[in-house]
Amino acid sequence: MTEETLSNLLHENRRFEPPAELAAAANVKASAYDDAAADREGFWAAAAERLAWTKKWDRVLDWDNPPFAKWFVGGELNVAYNCVDRHVEAGNGDRVAIHWVGEPADEARDITYADLQAEVSRAANALTSLGIGKGDPVAIYMPMIPEAIFAMLACARIGAPHTVVFGGFSAEALGSRLEDFKAKLVVTSDGGYRRGTASALKPAVDEARQISSRAGHDVGRVLVVRRTGQEVAFDEDVDVWWHDVVDSASPEHTPESFDSEHPLFVMYTSGTTGKPKGILHTTGGYLTQCAFTHWEVFDLKPETDVYWCTADIGWITGHSYIVYGPLANGVTQVLYEGTPDSPERGRWWQIIADKKVTVFYTAPTAIRSFMKQGREIPDRHDMSSLRILGSVGEPINPEAYIWYRLVIGGDRTPVVDTWWQTETGAIMISPLPGVTAGKPGSAMTALPGVSADVVNDEGVPVPHGSGGYLVLTSPWPSMLRTIWGDDQRYIDTYWSRFRDQGFYFAGDGAKKDEDGDLWVLGRVDDVMNVSGHRLSTTEIESALVSHPKVAEAAVVGATDPDTGQAVVAFVILRENAGDGGEGIAKELSDHVRTQIGPIAKPRQIMIVPELPKTRSGKIMRRLLRDVAEKREVGDTTTLADSTIMELISAGQATST
Ligand code: WTA
Repeated sequence: MTEETLSNLLHENRRFEPPAELAAAANVKASAYDDAAADREGFWAAAAERLAWTKKWDRVLDWDNPPFAKWFVGGELNVAYNCVDRHVEAGNGDRVAIHWVGEPADEARDITYADLQAEVSRAANALTSLGIGKGDPVAIYMPMIPEAIFAMLACARIGAPHTVVFGGFSAEALGSRLEDFKAKLVVTSDGGYRRGTASALKPAVDEARQISSRAGHDVGRVLVVRRTGQEVAFDEDVDVWWHDVVDSASPEHTPESFDSEHPLFVMYTSGTTGKPKGILHTTGGYLTQCAFTHWEVFDLKPETDVYWCTADIGWITGHSYIVYGPLANGVTQVLYEGTPDSPERGRWWQIIADKKVTVFYTAPTAIRSFMKQGREIPDRHDMSSLRILGSVGEPINPEAYIWYRLVIGGDRTPVVDTWWQTETGAIMISPLPGVTAGKPGSAMTALPGVSADVVNDEGVPVPHGSGGYLVLTSPWPSMLRTIWGDDQRYIDTYWSRFRDQGFYFAGDGAKKDEDGDLWVLGRVDDVMNVSGHRLSTTEIESALVSHPKVAEAAVVGATDPDTGQAVVAFVILRENAGDGGEGIAKELSDHVRTQIGPIAKPRQIMIVPELPKTRSGKIMRRLLRDVAEKREVGDTTTLADSTIMELISAGQATST
C-alpha cells in the first residue's frame, strides 16, 4: 500500500484476522470470555493463582462497602518476590530481565533476573538502613535507568509505598507531591540524558524539598544515583549517594509478606481542578490484573519474546507494563533511556532490530510523529522480529493504525489498541491478538472478566450504533482503591455521576458500533456540541489526519454565538507538503465535510508548526481553545516546550 492510497481511511472497514499460527498458540482463547462471564470471581481467582502467595485469600472480592473494594481478602504476598526471586528459584536466573539501552549510543547494560535479585535486595537493605520500613512513603524522581526499577521493587519488597514522579515535572510539581504523599525519602539521580545533553534532576529535588517544607512537610533523606557525573549540591545531613549505601549493602534479603490490600503505590494524575489526584493502588489485585493482562493482551511467551514498552516509568503505563506486569511474567524486555530521535531519527527502529524485539507497545502520538517523517526511516531497519504491536494513551486514528501495522509491523502483526487509565491500573478494553479480528480505530471489547458499557445521560445502556459515556459496571482487581487522603473526592469524581446504577464513570465518551464494538472517542470534556450535534474532537482529527498533506491535527470546540460551539482545527502539515499550497485551509475543510458531514466542517483551520503538548504527549486543548476564542493564553507551565504557544499566538500560524 502506498502513501496515496492511505487516504480516506476514516471509512476504513477492513478487519484484520489474527494470524493463524498466533491464534493456534495463543495464551488466551475465545473461551475465556465465556469462562469469565460464567464465574467472574472464579476467573480472577484463577488469574491470581498465577502469582505466588504465602497465604491464600479467604474471599475473592469484598464489595460490601462500595465503592471501596477489597480483593483477595486475607491473602498475603510479596510483589518483589513475585517479580524477581521466584523466576530465579524456577531456574531462570540467567535470563535477561532488562536490556538497558542508554541514550548515548555506546552505553548498554544487560541485567539478568539473578542480577536483579541482588540489586533489589541491596537497595532494600539500604532503604532499611536509612530508616525506611513498612508503610513509609518514598518518592522516586528519576530518568529511565535501571536504578529506577531497582528502587521501585525495593520499596515493594519492604512494604514502603512509592510514588514515582515523572522526571520531566518541575520542582513545584514534585514539591506538591512530596507534601501530599508525606514522602520520607526521595530517590533521584544527579541528572539524565536527553537529546544528547546531560540535564539536571537533583537541583529540582532540593527546591522541591523547600517547597514541601514550607507547606509543612519535611522530607528526611535523599538517595542520589550518580548517572551523569555533573556537579550537584550535597547536604551531608540529608543527601546520600546510592553508590555509598546500596553498592556496599548485602545482596541477600528475605522478603516479608504483605496483606493483599497493603498500599503498593500512589500515582498522581491531573484532574479537573488544579490539585493532582493521588491514585492509590494496592498489592494483590493490582499485581494479579497487570500480570494477567500483560500475558493475555500481548500473548507473552516469556521464554522467547523480547518485549518493549516505550512509556516512561513516571506514568501508569510504565508501572503496569514495564515494571510490575512484565517482571511478574518473567519476560526479557528493553528499557530505553532516551528520546526516539537521538542521536538520529531511526533510533527506535535500530533498537528493535538490534534486540530483536517481538512485542512493541507505544502511543499514537509517537506513531503520528513518525508518519510525519515518512516511512523511509523505519524502512531502513529489519523489524521482521515483531509479532504484536500495542497502542495506548489516546484513541488511535485509523490512518495511524494502518501505518503502524503496515510500515512497522510489515502487515503481519495484529495491533492491539488498549484502553485503560491510571485509575484502572491495567488494560480493560482491548482486542486479543489471537482471537479478535481487529478494526482500525476500535478498542473492540472489554477483556474477559471486565464489564464495560456505554450509557446515556440517565445511565441506560445505549443501543448498537449509538454513543454516550463509557462506564465500568463491576469492580475489577486492579481498580484504584481511593484518592490518597481524600475518600470523598474518590466518590465524587468516579462514583457520583451514575450513583444509582453503581457504575464507575471513566470520563470518556465512546460509541458502540453496529456490531457492539467499542470506539473510545476521548474525554467527555473534549466532546463538542455543534448545533445540537454531539461531535468528537477525535473524529474530526482523524478525518484531517487522513488527508495526505496532514501530519497531525488538534481540534477544539470554541464558543460560537450561532451554533453553541464551533470546530476550530490546528493542523501540522507533512514535511513533503511544504506550505500546503494556496487554499489549503479550504481543501482541508472540504475534506472534513466529505469525510464526516457538513456539521463537522471546521469554522477555522490554522496551519501551525507544532502543537502544545504536555511532557507525556497529551495535546493541551485548553490552550488551543484560548487561541480559538481569542483569549489570553492560560497557564503553560506543564507544556513540554513553553515557546510553542508563543509561536502559535504570534500569528506565525496561517489562518483562514
Ligand atoms: C485516554 C493511560 C482511547 C482516555 C493508560 C483515558 C485512550 C485516558 C486509550 C487515561 C485508548 C487511554 N483509546 N483513549 N486506547 N488509552 N486513553 O490515566 O481518555 O494517562 O481516560 O492512562 O487516556 O490516561 P492515563
